[in-house]
Amino acid sequence: MRSRAREGFPTFITLEGIEGSGKTTQIRNLSRELRGLGLSVLETREPGGTRLGEAIRSLVLGTDFQEMTPLAELLLIGACRAQHVHELIRPALEMGKVVLCDRFSDATLAYQGYGRGLSLEEVRKVNEISSCGLAPGLTILLDCPVELGLNRSRGRLMREGKSKSEGRFESLDTAFHERVREAYLRMAREDERRFRVIDASRPLELVSEDVLNCVRQHLGV
Ligand code: TMP
Repeated sequence: MRSRAREGFPTFITLEGIEGSGKTTQIRNLSRELRGLGLSVLETREPGGTRLGEAIRSLVLGTDFQEMTPLAELLLIGACRAQHVHELIRPALEMGKVVLCDRFSDATLAYQGYGRGLSLEEVRKVNEISSCGLAPGLTILLDCPVELGLNRSRGRLMREGKSKSEGRFESLDTAFHERVREAYLRMAREDERRFRVIDASRPLELVSEDVLNCVRQHLGV
């Protein structure tokens, strides 16, 4: 059984997409706009967010542990999420903040499930346990062709000298990233109430405008 039917937490908003789809820039712009409207906003990311989560991020994204199995990767990401929900996300939502999260459980289904080929049921189980049942009320999928996204992302890692410390997923082949993109699009089709798909191959300002409009409409602000 899937757990999609659960109502999401309305002010918990996630951004998803393949590498180089521009989530980080969009979250930064979006949180500035929402703060300008007088809302209290927490910007965070997965893997990461907490001190423990950032340590797990460097293990999972770094290239030091090439021997890491897909299951080990899944469980590390699950541990990161459990800490994130408990320490940061849940308390912020309870304080009335809008939480903008760069990736959440959908990324695990897309990357570890469809990308790595782990059992979707097992990935869903880990998602369920690690998120303590918390689900976003709105998910924005920034969609762009894999080649465009990978070029942007690999270029950024090179410029910032992070190919070794953060490049484990960027080093995977195009077929892996195509599976991830297709998985996201499929999840969006299967849950049209929660997902909004935005074409992220367009100029940044147009994408930002669409993201802001989606979120304003969703929050009613
Ligand atoms: P990003 O936050 O810079 O986009 O990179 C995070 C990387 O971690 C990205 O390559 C996808 C990967 N990831 C997973 O494989 N599974 C997950 O559940 C999450 C949150 C991220």
